[in-house]
Amino acid sequence: MKIFSGTSNKPLAEKIAKNLNLKLSGLEVFVFPDKEKRIRILDKVLDEDVVVVQSTSSPTDENYMQLFFILDALKRNGAKSITAVIPYFGYQRQDHMFREGEAVSVKVIAEILKSLGINKLISIDLHSTKIVEAFNVPVVHLSSLAVFAKIIKEKGWDKDSVILVSPDMGGVRRIKILSGMLNNMPYGFIEKNRNLETGVVTAEKITGKIGKKAIIVDDMISSGKTITVASDLLKKNGAEEIYVFATHPVFSENAPKILQDSMVEKVYVADTIFVPEEKRFPKLEILSVSEMIANSIKSN
Ligand code: R5P
Repeated sequence: MKIFSGTSNKPLAEKIAKNLNLKLSGLEVFVFPDKEKRIRILDKVLDEDVVVVQSTSSPTDENYMQLFFILDALKRNGAKSITAVIPYFGYQRQDHMFREGEAVSVKVIAEILKSLGINKLISIDLHSTKIVEAFNVPVVHLSSLAVFAKIIKEKGWDKDSVILVSPDMGGVRRIKILSGMLNNMPYGFIEKNRNLETGVVTAEKITGKIGKKAIIVDDMISSGKTITVASDLLKKNGAEEIYVFATHPVFSENAPKILQDSMVEKVYVADTIFVPEEKRFPKLEILSVSEMIANSIKSN
């Protein structure tokens, strides 16, 4: 087996390779003056099972193009099978037409990946489980919830003083699974609304008995607005300490500052997206999903 990595999240790819007792195979990315890129694989892949790791986080379009060219190079050079590991799957939020006239971006990406001949996709905490249906190759949909559950268990908190909270209705399934992993820890959810024209996020209603500690669980943090309105509402409803567990640290705009200045005690994220030094903040803790991905590669 050979493993390649695009440039978006090499530290994660290196950890996955280490877990597989492999070294990353060489890849050359040449950038032309007009910013077009030429991709060249530097290892033989004829009749090899190949894994490619590339998170399609920001710059999403560039990271996708790089992945597409890597896949093309692998196919042309005779790879026997290709597993695309896309820990954070860009464009996944546009998984249906929210309003008349919109494109369904995730379907377009799925079509391209299919046409480039991937044999399997491994991804983590997709925005909706329906995304899997956009592919006609096997999709291994992993979740960071087990990694989160381990950390929450280690805290040794009294179950009845804690509530798991989904900041929107879309995360209710996720929160129920996590509750099951934590001996049926109580859970609740917030009714959130995002104005599609202005981007303004509001959260009015919370369902569930608020304990002393609240744990907000989400699939991603982008602008940080969802976490801000959810934690404000939880404080108003009596929560004393708020913790956040969110898989993908998209961290767009000034999310790191918003999160550091917010009322939350700590923000746990997974390493599905590489967080550069300038986006790290004291309340942030990054948990690795590399072992989980490596185990999935080994066992499938
Ligand atoms: C929305 O449905 C997602 O689950 C996240 O809550 C959302 O993408 C977070 O975005 P932001 O940080 O910009 O509020």
